[in-house]
Amino acid sequence: MAFVFVGCGTTPDTSTPVYDTGLDADEVRNSEFGKVFPLHYASYLNNNDDTQMTEYGGSVPHDKHDGINPLPQGYKYAQPYLKNLWLGYPFSYEYKRARGHTYALEDIFHIDRIDNYSESAGLPSSCYNCKSNKVPGLLEDYGDEFWSQEFNDFRELHDIEDHAIGCNLCHDAETMELVITSEPLDEALQRLDIDWREASKNEMRSYVCAQCHVEYYFQSGDVGVAAKVTFPWDEGFGPEDMYKYKSEGSEEKGFEGAFADWVHPVSDTPMLKVQHPEFETWIDGPHGAAGVSCADCHMPYIRVDGKKKISSHQWTSPLKTIEQSCRTCHADKDAQYLKDRVVYTQEKTWEQLLIAQEISVKAHEAIRLASEFEGEKRANYDELMEEARELTRKGQWFWDYVSAENSVGFHNPQKALDTLAKSQQFSQKAVDLAKKATNYAIAPDLEGDIKEIVPPIMEHSRKLQQSKEHLESHKWFQYLPLLPEADPIWDLNERIDGN
Ligand code: HEC
Ligand code: HEC
Ligand code: HEC
Ligand code: HEC
Repeated sequence: MAFVFVGCGTTPDTSTPVYDTGLDADEVRNSEFGKVFPLHYASYLNNNDDTQMTEYGGSVPHDKHDGINPLPQGYKYAQPYLKNLWLGYPFSYEYKRARGHTYALEDIFHIDRIDNYSESAGLPSSCYNCKSNKVPGLLEDYGDEFWSQEFNDFRELHDIEDHAIGCNLCHDAETMELVITSEPLDEALQRLDIDWREASKNEMRSYVCAQCHVEYYFQSGDVGVAAKVTFPWDEGFGPEDMYKYKSEGSEEKGFEGAFADWVHPVSDTPMLKVQHPEFETWIDGPHGAAGVSCADCHMPYIRVDGKKKISSHQWTSPLKTIEQSCRTCHADKDAQYLKDRVVYTQEKTWEQLLIAQEISVKAHEAIRLASEFEGEKRANYDELMEEARELTRKGQWFWDYVSAENSVGFHNPQKALDTLAKSQQFSQKAVDLAKKATNYAIAPDLEGDIKEIVPPIMEHSRKLQQSKEHLESHKWFQYLPLLPEADPIWDLNERIDGN
């Protein structure tokens, strides 16, 4: 597996300062690191600023499917079909734009994807892997048992601020050297014959982010460690490579046959959900291929305290710091030009993203119509339908690879457009095959504006799914079960009185 960073000459591998912090090796509290490094801690606390948007990015956490309401509820660039495409999967309850690292625990405890109405959160402790400073310690205490343990078991253990993503996940507490604390990344790199302990400083400036800003899945307990976070990189980093990995099962990977995150209830199709593949997108883009690291743009040197220069620890859109983030290398271009180039790429990506999203919706609807069709079917109906489902799964995976990635194409403009073109082709073919399976009898039902054929689902949540009336408000809801009436029993990391 070739995986080489080529130096571009603009990022000299200067030696990293090594400190003697006086902190315990197992210190995890951000505030304790803050006593030794007050300027870095102050910079880190700037992650609390969730008030600024850029054109396509930014930090105001709105609902990503809502293009109607103004901030902080919705935003002009929204994909209205997210709840349709993830129906039957907790992502359809709530999906918001990311904000700063300091909010990681507050947001996971609050999000409707975690079941706050039941003793069981419905998700394993694996979810803490990318949110909590305590994971390295919990892995020491519990070993591999940690991953599959009930998420709620560790709620009350957390201080929402002091234990959110922080210093100890990227730094050795005693020396502040950059380290990888994520077991899933360590193991994924090992499978590619890479040892991060021998990596250059420049590589580490991206590997520390690859601990979390990547695609992953939870391993099955049948053959591996139950619910362990696993990176599907063995075949490569592209959407086709990871699709191949997940679709050609093997016992080694922890699943037999094709892997599925959930079955879409409308089309009865085993689906895959992509999670923020920033690292995989960046790696063979113009900057990744040239050895420009995540930290080069997202952690620029900034002047603080009137004089000192430190690496910014506010991880946010580099468009807020173009001078420090970009003009260090692109000194011949002015800030406005650079911003315009980013937005140019994002505009083109966004346009194709919306089209890909709509054809994916059409594919589910076509399969729904074809599977309920009672007239005369093609002789090879079953075969055609099987292929249509496979292409629906694939088309949505390719769409989501770009949709879930947070740069709207900038990290790799060519790959983003290529991936969206393929998504559109796969999904359109799924529609065509479903029509063909019914001898085109369903074709008239799929003509016209997709928003009329399948309206976007604007409102949906765990609470709403407890209401019969809500489930009668959209034709796709008929495939969902009514949930028993219940009230939440958790408020963030605390039990609500009486529960
Ligand atoms: C060449 C500079 C550059 C490099 C290198 C880079 N990024 Fe970005 N990143 C950007 C820009 C520009 C955006 C778009 C910001 C916007 O739309 O406001 C972005 C967006 C993001 C976002 C979303 C930010 C938001 O405002 O919502 C995340 C998360 C992110 N990058 C993570 C990473 C990770 C992880 C890496 C390394 C694997 C990386 N980036 C490498 C420039 C870079
Ligand atoms: C997501 C990973 C990550 C987290 C979390 C993180 N850092 Fe860093 N830190 C880095 C990177 C990358 C560098 C740059 C190292 C280099 O280039 O040698 C850095 C550099 C530093 C340095 C060296 C001086 C400098 O400015 O380059 C100090 C000190 C430091 N960080 C303190 C902290 C403190 C304190 C916290 C917690 C409040 C923290 N870091 C959290 C990634 C991280
Ligand atoms: C331990 C996991 C973890 C690590 C390591 C990590 N991130 Fe994040 N990152 C997250 C999570 C989780 C969020 C979303 C937090 C939220 O919305 O509550 C996030 C959000 C972001 C955002 C969006 C912030 C905004 O203002 O919209 C950027 C940009 C980002 N990370 C960049 C980076 C970069 C660059 C690195 C490496 C230096 C890195 N992250 C390392 C987990 C991580
Ligand atoms: C460490 C150096 C470095 C930094 C920092 C950097 N770039 Fe670049 N940039 C490069 C290199 C190297 C290339 C590739 C040049 C080539 O292929 O000839 C490049 C290419 C580009 C391109 C053309 C390729 C494309 O994606 O369309 C754009 C636009 C660009 N950079 C914008 C930015 C912006 C915006 C930032 C800040 C968010 C930034 N760069 C930060 C080094 C850097």
